[in-house]
Amino acid sequence: MKKTAWFVLAMAIAALAIFLAAKDATYVGASSCKLCHKAELQGRQFTIWEASLHAKSCASLTTPKALEVAKSTGASNPPENAQCLGCHAPLAAKAPELKSEGVTCEVCHGAGSGYRKLAIMQDKEKAVQNGLVLYPDPGAIQAHCMQCHQNPHGKAFDFKAAWETIKHPVPTK
Ligand code: HEC
Ligand code: HEC
Ligand code: HEC
Ligand code: HEC
Repeated sequence: MKKTAWFVLAMAIAALAIFLAAKDATYVGASSCKLCHKAELQGRQFTIWEASLHAKSCASLTTPKALEVAKSTGASNPPENAQCLGCHAPLAAKAPELKSEGVTCEVCHGAGSGYRKLAIMQDKEKAVQNGLVLYPDPGAIQAHCMQCHQNPHGKAFDFKAAWETIKHPVPTK
């Protein structure tokens, strides 16, 4: 009898896990954000990102320089090496079709399938409930950057200067 109860509980947990997984947001790619975040009035976030090295971080793994970097750490085949992809193409495993987008919008803002609709995006609270990741203060932003910029390849990271380079605010009305 006891065993049956455990089995029922285990099945209930499994069913819940499947339900939650189905509800889980999926990655939609920068082209979906582009629709609304390219306009001058909105702040041209897409254009700013596209021109940054974050948009090219996956492609960087195919350069001669990448082979050099890889050799120095004893790694091989950078474009397929999980060790490099972790920072240069962080969606490679979760959403392989978006691997080439490198450090794309959703790496910092969360998977967008749930929040990208206009009615949800316009309401900050609803957007956050549907998966949008925001940062309460500069300390939180910096902590996020440090996941990848903590001394990579021996290069120092100046957070303030780096943020000035990649920031993409909505213009104040
Ligand atoms: C259908 C249009 C639309 C799409 C698609 C869209 N957004 Fe938005 N987004 C908006 C609007 C409108 C706002 C509100 C902007 C404002 O405050 O002026 C917004 C706000 C935001 C904000 C700021 C939230 C805040 O209040 O601080 C972020 C971050 C954001 N969007 C990221 C994204 C990302 C990432 C994607 C793609 C996955 C995306 N958006 C797709 C329309 C859109
Ligand atoms: C998921 C990993 C990851 C995160 C998170 C991340 N970066 Fe990066 N960043 C990279 C990689 C990889 C490159 C190198 C791209 C290349 O040259 O291939 C890079 C390059 C840069 C550059 C040089 C880009 C240019 O266009 O000159 C700046 C500046 C930068 N990041 C700032 C930031 C800031 C600020 C944050 C936090 C808001 C941040 N990064 C978060 C991985 C990341
Ligand atoms: C911990 C995160 C991280 C990992 C892991 C990582 N990188 Fe990087 N890589 C970065 C960041 C961040 C930059 C940008 C540094 C900057 O310009 O400040 C970068 C820059 C580069 C560049 C451009 C450097 C230049 O000076 O032109 C190459 C090439 C590169 N990485 C190759 C690799 C290879 C190959 C691997 C795997 C062996 C790898 N990276 C692993 C974060 C990482
Ligand atoms: C490396 C991380 C990173 C990437 C990549 C990135 N963002 Fe952001 N974004 C941030 C951070 C951090 C903020 C500041 C949040 C804050 O101030 O609360 C921000 C702010 C925003 C805002 C709100 C600006 C405001 O003034 O309220 C929008 C809209 C936005 N991002 C959209 C995008 C879109 C669209 C893309 C891709 C085309 C993108 N972001 C790529 C980290 C990133």
